[in-house]
Amino acid sequence: MEIIVLPTPADVARTAADAIEEQVRRGPCVLGLATGSTPLGTYQELIERHRTGGLSFAHAQAFLLDEYVGLPSTHPQSYHSVIRDEFTASVDFAADAVHGLDGMAADPQAEAEQYEARIAAAGGVDIQILGIGTDGHVGFNEPMSSLGSRTRIKTLTRQTRQDNARFFDSADDVPDHVLTQGLGTIREARHLLLIAMGEAKAEAIAAAVEGPVAAICPASALQLHPHVSVLVDEAAASRL
Ligand code: GLP
Repeated sequence: MEIIVLPTPADVARTAADAIEEQVRRGPCVLGLATGSTPLGTYQELIERHRTGGLSFAHAQAFLLDEYVGLPSTHPQSYHSVIRDEFTASVDFAADAVHGLDGMAADPQAEAEQYEARIAAAGGVDIQILGIGTDGHVGFNEPMSSLGSRTRIKTLTRQTRQDNARFFDSADDVPDHVLTQGLGTIREARHLLLIAMGEAKAEAIAAAVEGPVAAICPASALQLHPHVSVLVDEAAASRL
């Protein structure tokens, strides 16, 4: 793991954008995109570089990490909508190049298996952006998720539903269930970019980076990966 501590959240966003830009400029590639507030600055950087620096995503594909079960893709808080509004609609991805899990699938397990097959058919993910939950989750792999897990349906913890309540009218409106790439799936991406900013993430970052590899902190599974960049601001690094 390379741990890069940067002075401000803006520096973290720029450094993450540099890594993605380098990958995209190298040629056709597959990006793994995360939702949540953490990568928003990175997406804004990339949009700016598309507008002013000629950075093109026309030959890139993208796969989302996770999705709420029970929200149609048109719901403003579905991760389909969020990633479109925050990033992909503002750059030049091809129409069918951004892939997400279908939270309305009648058979979530079959949807999960098909999603894995689509990632494999695209050649796997070249660079995966990851945020981290305050409880150490990545994607929606909550504590005690199997370190080798594949894409599947999961139940959210109360903590995560409270953390994400700010995007909904109340915590009760946050769906109970989600579809998420598993920790085993995520670890197959060739380069992992874990981003965290702010004091609220400091404990989770310390457990992920310096703690034992253990299911109680799902992000600690990333220690098993040969190419991980952890980009943190000073606040998120404060317990290291
Ligand atoms: C959410 C998402 C994760 C995200 C994390 C942190 O529940 N499923 O992909 O990394 O929680 O969110 P935020 O970046 O808003 O703190």
